Amino acid sequence: MDDGLTDNIYQTGDIFSNRELVRVGYVPKLSRIVGRDDEVREVGGALGPAIQGGPPETCIIYGKTGTGKSLVARCVTRGAVKRAQDNGHSFQYCYVDCSDYQTEAKASREMARGLEEQLHADKSIPRIGIGAADYRDITWELLSEYDIDSFVVILDEIDKLENDEILRSVSRAKESGKSKTNIGVICISNKIEYRKRFSERVDSSLQENDLVFDPYDAHQLRNILTNRKDAFKEGVLEKSVIPKIAASSAQEHGDARKAVDTLYEAGRLAEKAGASTVTNDFVDEALKKAEANRFKELVSGQPPQVKLVLAALASLTKAQDRDQFRTSTVYDWYKRAAAEEGKQPLSYDRVSKLLREQGFLGITESEHTGGGYGEGSYMVHRLLRDPDIVVEALNDAS
Ligand SMILES: Nc1ncnc2c1ncn2[C@@H]1O[C@H](COP(=O)(O)OP(=O)(O)OP(=O)(O)O)[C@@H](O)[C@H]1O
Ligand SMILES: [Mg+2]
Repeated sequence: MDDGLTDNIYQTGDIFSNRELVRVGYVPKLSRIVGRDDEVREVGGALGPAIQGGPPETCIIYGKTGTGKSLVARCVTRGAVKRAQDNGHSFQYCYVDCSDYQTEAKASREMARGLEEQLHADKSIPRIGIGAADYRDITWELLSEYDIDSFVVILDEIDKLENDEILRSVSRAKESGKSKTNIGVICISNKIEYRKRFSERVDSSLQENDLVFDPYDAHQLRNILTNRKDAFKEGVLEKSVIPKIAASSAQEHGDARKAVDTLYEAGRLAEKAGASTVTNDFVDEALKKAEANRFKELVSGQPPQVKLVLAALASLTKAQDRDQFRTSTVYDWYKRAAAEEGKQPLSYDRVSKLLREQGFLGITESEHTGGGYGEGSYMVHRLLRDPDIVVEALNDAS
């Protein structure tokens, strides 16, 4: 084909043999889950009775981001469904990511829709016009029509739900006579604070299995990464690459998603550079990029007034050839930035306090300085990152 393009623009290099394995969206099979044996066993134990057609126990999983909560919950449930079928029992489950379905009605609809899909049923579930309880009734109908012995709902990111109604009604469906099926729930949250809220609001009978997934240590991350080594061609990864990413990730966050992503990024950088091996230099570059991304996330998650304060400090740092500024100088620039955006500026004291809080997050640093002859002591503030990165992060967020 003569489209003016040559084949070599599509060249992908000699680094990856199966890059899917290290992509963010990839969900590994149970056999590729490493370092979560106890957790897998606990969730499996909660679902155990359902394999024999009995009532699954409720499970509540907490843990920081990237600690394998969603992965373990889904894989273990999927495996249980298969085993129940092998035993001649009907067991179904559905997975609801509450961050995508935050209202009671949307989450209830998604539960009904998920079950409909699993059963290959056709209920023509309306998108709008009926209430949350009606959607749940469709779920109970499906369970009864298809004679399902046990059913498990995974409510992921449950803290995003507007209320606990769906949880309450699902966990009481049997005792309230709405359904004959044995119903269980797996709740997942990356907010440890939710634990307290949960126990205050929800029936104590629900708290049967309360699991906390800890951040991964270097050894576990090393195993997780080694298990995906076949994403790369034979001999391409230098020996020190995986240990280096594992050690750094364990120290910074213990997040498997981020560690896998850094490995992928190092490979991509090697690929882009036309290299034949992934060396420590590419890892360093990938780690630097990951750190910049984390910083961006941190900045973009700040409230609008904080962003204005940071924008003022960044433009000050860029405009002048020093990097420490008195609160009054930052405040002047902040007021100007607020006026430009048509925002009412906060008081001097508020801004001064916000600046100190940013220090706590590691975005800025504040210290008392003695001042020169005749001056009292005063606070100076400094951005801890390259102002260009800060400006970029702020622009990305707006
Ligand atoms: N034990 C593990 N073995 C192999 N890969 C893992 C493991 N734990 C996590 N991963 C990888 O990290 C990704 C993120 O894990 P998961 O989605 O389970 O995190 P999470 O705890 O649900 O995080 P979040 O709170 O952000 O939703 C997975 O898709 C998988 O690629
Ligand atoms: Mg998750």
